[in-house]
Amino acid sequence: MTLITKAPRGTLDKLPSDTLKCRVIEENALNTAVAYGYREIRTPVFEHTELFKRSVGDTTDIVQKEMYTFDDKKGRSLTLKPEGTACVARAAIENGLFNEALPLKLCYITNCYRYEAPQSGRYREFSQFGAEVYGADTPLCDVELIALAHNIFEKLGIPANAYTIEINSIGCPECRRLYQDALKKYYEGFKDKLCGDCHERLERNPMRLLDCKNPHCGEFKSNAPVILDYNCSSCAEFFTGVKAGLDALSIPYKVNARIVRGLDYYTNTVFEFIYRDSSKSTDESFGLVFGAGGRYNGLIKELGGSDTAASGFALGIERLTTVIDKTGVFPLPQKPDIYIATIGERAAIFALKTAQELRRREPSIWAECDIVGRSVKAQMRFADKIGARFSMVIGDNELDNGTAVLKNMATKENKEIDLSNIDSFIG
Ligand code: HAM
Repeated sequence: MTLITKAPRGTLDKLPSDTLKCRVIEENALNTAVAYGYREIRTPVFEHTELFKRSVGDTTDIVQKEMYTFDDKKGRSLTLKPEGTACVARAAIENGLFNEALPLKLCYITNCYRYEAPQSGRYREFSQFGAEVYGADTPLCDVELIALAHNIFEKLGIPANAYTIEINSIGCPECRRLYQDALKKYYEGFKDKLCGDCHERLERNPMRLLDCKNPHCGEFKSNAPVILDYNCSSCAEFFTGVKAGLDALSIPYKVNARIVRGLDYYTNTVFEFIYRDSSKSTDESFGLVFGAGGRYNGLIKELGGSDTAASGFALGIERLTTVIDKTGVFPLPQKPDIYIATIGERAAIFALKTAQELRRREPSIWAECDIVGRSVKAQMRFADKIGARFSMVIGDNELDNGTAVLKNMATKENKEIDLSNIDSFIG
């Protein structure tokens, strides 16, 4: 029995108070993205497993340990999407969207699935708002993306000093080859102290050594070579352009040479949006990465499309909710405009018809009436409980006279109104 009354580990029920917050974030993000030229795309919840192996990378933790993969009835291997970038890239290639005017800007809201160890802010089902740009291989494109995220945070009321934008450049494949060699050389010195996974990473994809969550392996990260030192001159110039663009827009950032990201498709610019709880002492202050992204110029070609530059980011909606709960202000939930309490059947039908008329208006008026069969006293208690702004009681007398008393529930002020004039109902 407990199995069916308990949600699966790592999942969250979003209750009405949570969904309201999600909607504020989602609507804000989508509306802000429109002003930058983004159009929304929706892709399936599952994809062919091969898509994520080829894009996220088959030596990453996501692909090796965290995917929800299953065979369908025809034996095809499918995977619940662990992220949105690969799916949007696949959809854009398949549907010929790169034939439209470039740059192509697409945004999405999607659930993602990763079999991670659940903890605060880390779930097995979570949602992302993502933005992806194709066909723009310039620092300005990356700057515009970061500016979009910054603008979304600003509109959501998150103070600029509550989070940092941390940026890095992981260079082109040639810079990365040199860096991987340097990393390999460095880690070879500790080979016998590394965990089993890291032994494999050392052979197959040394950059992933930096993602290891095992504290013993973590010790070696602080002295490991940093990728910025291996950027070639054109990658370094690109990164200078990103910094200059952010400076021009007065968007504060920090260069963090340790950001390498846990997905294999990135090239050049990478960035993270990090919230640090200032109420905790420095030691305990936890860094919550509530959004991240970067450039991924090789992915479209890798997936079978033409050579197309790409860059993007995704924000974790649950983590963004936490950040706003701690630093910003969510708008208060709406309350009903009017409760029409009734005595008798004639009045009940009148109230239902009147409520329907108010609800059909543009914008709708939130009207409530009794559909439970409560006494008038219980109806008024309910009106109070749900926080209705106005109320009125209708019975045969009111219907015969064509008038009723409208009560302002906050001020207790009463006003006689004409029942045939619906415009007078909400003050
Ligand atoms: P990511 O860093 O894996 O990047 O995820 C982006 C954001 O999703 C994170 O910053 C975090 O807020 C949220 N997130 C990730 N995993 C979890 C989890 N287990 N529970 C709750 N929230 C989570 C990507 O997914 C890339 N596709 C971003 C991107 C878009 N790069 C280019 N375009």
